[in-house]
Amino acid sequence: MTVSTIELAVIGGTGLYKLADLQDVETHQPATQYGAPSGPIRVGTLDGHRVAFLARHGEGHSLPPHKINYRANLAALKALGATRVLALNTVGGITERFGPRVLACPDQLIDYTWGRISTVCEEEGTEVLHIDFGEPYTCALRGEVLAAAQRSGVALVDGGCYGATQGPRLETRAEIARLRRDGCDLVGMTGMPEAGLAREMGLDYACLGIVANWAAGAGPDPDEVITLQDVLDHVAAASSGLPALLRAL
Ligand code: HPA
Repeated sequence: MTVSTIELAVIGGTGLYKLADLQDVETHQPATQYGAPSGPIRVGTLDGHRVAFLARHGEGHSLPPHKINYRANLAALKALGATRVLALNTVGGITERFGPRVLACPDQLIDYTWGRISTVCEEEGTEVLHIDFGEPYTCALRGEVLAAAQRSGVALVDGGCYGATQGPRLETRAEIARLRRDGCDLVGMTGMPEAGLAREMGLDYACLGIVANWAAGAGPDPDEVITLQDVLDHVAAASSGLPALLRAL
């Protein structure tokens, strides 16, 4: 089952359901001990390099954040031979540097999610792991992502704290004010438990946040209403640099 030379696995978030530039694509949907992944994994070639792509919410965006089988997604990518995962996460911006259409590579996170299976130690009889998570993203992979952005001339903000909320609703202004006080710069719904599970599974993992909107009350117009269309428009615009960045990576 291993597709031996997958050099990078990419997990796409809201508005990012395929990698248009992948060539010679094969489709895999391995069953895992945790169940089925969100959808087919497309493995293909990008400039001669083997790359796997999985749409986190399913290709038709049918899975809300709390229903995603994060364990199966990562286990399926690992079963295909992936060791490095770049997570694309659509996010809201909270602090000044993270306005709509910004790309960011956060270096910290706070987990506000609840009720999600967040460990591979869930089943009785499995060994309990207490992974080090002080640096939630793999430093070396973050460094490579930042270097690739620089080489390809794509603006990418280095650092920031990702607050992972439960969703699927967006947050209240009071919740975003609290996240800001806590030190969050970005807010999204899928950053956890994915990052923690990747560490438990021994996968290198980095996040590329695509800012789709000012989080509730965070932008210049405090009364702004966030619409799905705005989110999708900003994601599409912000993603224009992604193919070049991925190629460089
Ligand atoms: N909050 C949470 N998740 C998000 C947002 C937001 O404002 N925008 C895109 N994903």
